[in-house]
Amino acid sequence: MLEITLIGYGKMGRMIASLAEGQGCHVHSIIDPTQEGCEREIRPEFLADVCIDFSQPDSALANIRQVAAAGKNLVVGTTGWHKQLDEVKDLTEKHGIGLLWGANFSIGMNLFTRVARYAASISDKFPMYDVCGWEMHHNQKADSPSGTAIQLASAILEESSVKDEAVYDKLDRKIQRNELHFASLRGGAVPGTHSLIFDCETDSLELTHRVRSRACFATGALQAAQWISLRKGCYSFNQMMEDLLC
Ligand SMILES: NC(=O)c1ccc[n+]([C@@H]2O[C@H](COP(=O)([O-])OP(=O)(O)OC[C@H]3O[C@@H](n4cnc5c(N)ncnc54)[C@H](OP(=O)(O)O)[C@@H]3O)[C@@H](O)[C@H]2O)c1
Repeated sequence: MLEITLIGYGKMGRMIASLAEGQGCHVHSIIDPTQEGCEREIRPEFLADVCIDFSQPDSALANIRQVAAAGKNLVVGTTGWHKQLDEVKDLTEKHGIGLLWGANFSIGMNLFTRVARYAASISDKFPMYDVCGWEMHHNQKADSPSGTAIQLASAILEESSVKDEAVYDKLDRKIQRNELHFASLRGGAVPGTHSLIFDCETDSLELTHRVRSRACFATGALQAAQWISLRKGCYSFNQMMEDLLC
């Protein structure tokens, strides 16, 4: 069993705790300043072999600094700090630790992005196919388009010889051939759906990824904890997936 420390015991922290044993991990300690029954702050003596941070954008960097100084490996699922990635890479080198980060730990979405890229590259050989996409999330989501929609659109643009610009807003004109339209829909309790359509006059291909629960992110985070426990250096979730797919 891999001993892990959870930093942040909100929706994601709790989901990871509930799935840990099934993925060969034992929750050694939980750190969260406001949740009942948790340690209040990061101290070296609380930390297990690998820490998993799903806290808040404001606190992620300070947490990374403290865990690195304690010489422990770390998985960071918290978003909103990625502009400081260079500093984090320096920290992992300086303290000789392993760190894995990512904005979307869904293994299914990582596979979906690869399939989408391939679909875009082969449909590009047949000019009658046009491509567009949409995403749907629950009515509490604050931003649109989703970060994942932006990532998917970039992948399609990289593979297409026709499309060179993504358009997310409503259009009051005809769409241009070089524009990739990616629409956002908000409503209900949908945890996250992304769909791509390759369409022509005679037929239509639709590729869809549907999140059913946060368990898909938690499963990826636990897999990441196992993977980083054996490594030093700074890696993205995508780099881990490339390694697992070799
Ligand atoms: N990479 C992925 O696949 C993925 C998937 C889902 C979510 N996320 C990201 O993960 C983060 C957490 O998401 P969530 O849905 O679990 O949020 P959440 O339910 O708000 O949970 C975050 C928890 O961390 C606590 N916290 C705040 N500062 C902390 C600190 N310094 N040390 C330890 N804990 C601290 C919060 O306490 P308070 O509520 O009292 O502030 C809260 O209990 C967000 O940035 C989200 O965007 C990433």
